[in-house]
Amino acid sequence: MIPDDVIEQVRDAADLVGIIGEHVELKRTGADYRGPCPFHGGTHRNFAVIPKKGMFYCFVCHEAGDVFTFFMKKGGMDYPTAVREVARRVGVTIPERNAPSGPDPNEPLFAAVAAAADWYARQLRDSPEAEVARQYLRSRHLELETVLPLGLGYAPPASAPGAGFQDAMKSLGLRDPVLLEAGLLVKRDDGALVPRFRGRLLFPIHDLRARVVGFGGRILGEGEPKYLNSPDTPIFHKGKLLYNLHVAKQAIRKAERAIIVEGYFDVLRLALAGLEEVVAPLGTGLTAEQAELVARYTSQVFLLYDSDDAGLRATFRAGDELLRHGLRVSVATLPDGEDPDTIVQRRGGRALAETLKDGVDLLERKIQILERKGFFASLPGRRRALDRLLPTIRAARDPITRELYLSRTAEVAGVRKDVLERESGSGKRDAGSIPTPPASRIPHPDLPASAEKALLLLMLHSPEWESRVVDAVDAESFKFVPYRAVFESLVEKAPERLDEVSARVLEQLHQERLGGSSPDEIFESAIASIEADRISRQIERIKGELALVSGDEQLRRIQELQQLVAERNAERPTWQIVENAKSARRRGASGT
Ligand code: UTP
Ligand code: MN
Repeated sequence: MIPDDVIEQVRDAADLVGIIGEHVELKRTGADYRGPCPFHGGTHRNFAVIPKKGMFYCFVCHEAGDVFTFFMKKGGMDYPTAVREVARRVGVTIPERNAPSGPDPNEPLFAAVAAAADWYARQLRDSPEAEVARQYLRSRHLELETVLPLGLGYAPPASAPGAGFQDAMKSLGLRDPVLLEAGLLVKRDDGALVPRFRGRLLFPIHDLRARVVGFGGRILGEGEPKYLNSPDTPIFHKGKLLYNLHVAKQAIRKAERAIIVEGYFDVLRLALAGLEEVVAPLGTGLTAEQAELVARYTSQVFLLYDSDDAGLRATFRAGDELLRHGLRVSVATLPDGEDPDTIVQRRGGRALAETLKDGVDLLERKIQILERKGFFASLPGRRRALDRLLPTIRAARDPITRELYLSRTAEVAGVRKDVLERESGSGKRDAGSIPTPPASRIPHPDLPASAEKALLLLMLHSPEWESRVVDAVDAESFKFVPYRAVFESLVEKAPERLDEVSARVLEQLHQERLGGSSPDEIFESAIASIEADRISRQIERIKGELALVSGDEQLRRIQELQQLVAERNAERPTWQIVENAKSARRRGASGT
């Protein structure tokens, strides 16, 4: 196996125009080169070489690819041979295979997905059944000629006469078990194999080597699910790939920034508006692997998500993940109700460029929102605001970013920076993992868990309550691991990602009712209890530290302690009082 970064280095160094120019007479037209197509043997200049994108495309026969594909298609080479050939020409040395490596066992899967992608693209281009899809694209103001080079396709409904996906695959010698493993077929309950994608517009998803490995399929118009993605297969892992990265990576390097958007259409629209450094996750929150991928190409990321609540939450989750990988993160804010797709359509690429220019740093954006919601107006509010800001400070791996975050937060929350530093440092150890309650805490399976549980029940109660809860707490507030998992899955709308235990817990929650009190009352006491819990943990920590310091420092901590105790009393949560009474009884019983 040739390492990915070597392959990229070779691709970057290759003179595409020069290489293709050996086979085709190319003439410059604007930024591109045109000539007669060597694949279908055309005589007109319908074959384009686009050096900026490192690709070629024929507007007549629709052959397309990069420098390696060109050698494969023109010279009948396999992929590694094509890479070695180009490497030889650009003078890059590729380490010889040290272990005798056989053919890639996944080769049949790549071949199957590539064949399917070709077939789907052909349907979109010229099958009569695909007229609905072409119409749909027109309704979204997209030209067929602009999307075909990007590989878009159409999967006809299974019922359509002559749809024949399976026949077409069979005639290419692709067998059902392979198509099944590649996620192109699904097994129905009655055992019959049917095409997974039916009546959908397909976005091909590529790996870093620009091989198609899966699809995201949009329903035409309304319906559920809006997008159907390929399942995870040996070659497709939705948490480890980013849509469009195979094209965007060069642009990201050049622009020294990456733009991350939420959806396939957003990527399409930005790329067509000339912002080619754009990628999107594949229908999940941004994962650590994806953040790592981005960090390979740049240190600056712009998040350009929808402006609704869900978009905002996704922004902050993605932002913290990117910070953990040492990236700098800016948040671009779209006008209400717009997404990147609509804004480019309505106001053009200029408006989008403006939006990006007005982007503010992730932490600053969080502060803006907390300010707008009045968090800094009261003492408990400030505490809660700090709770929201601390995970972001902790996430910042870049030391300068972290330092700036500490200063800024100290300023806005009116807390001394060294106090903040201690707090953010102590949490750092378990950033990302599940914090365990401190040992000093007496476990009450019923009581503390019920505040957490109440919040989850509220979330299940109605969408309005769900967003109120999500606004008030984050995953770190849930100490009981399955509850935390349930919370996250509700936020991300991904119940399928729950482990077995958490899934059972969720099922049980679905069967329970809120109980007698009003949702408002339940909410208030649950939040207060969780807040008091947090303060208690802090109190315990400071108590533990008291012995280690002396003099003024000790005095300061004692004052801090007194303030915290006062704050905890102010929360006065019903559950907490019951709990305190219980532990007081227990203390009494044990004589301490
Ligand atoms: P959106 O609902 O914002 O879709 O979901 P979109 O890309 O803007 O599409 P249009 O403009 O409404 O047609 C954002 C992304 O979330 C994933 C897809 O990757 C989508 O592009 N998604 C969304 C799914 O995987 N499944 C869904 O059912 C919905
Ligand atoms: Mn969208």
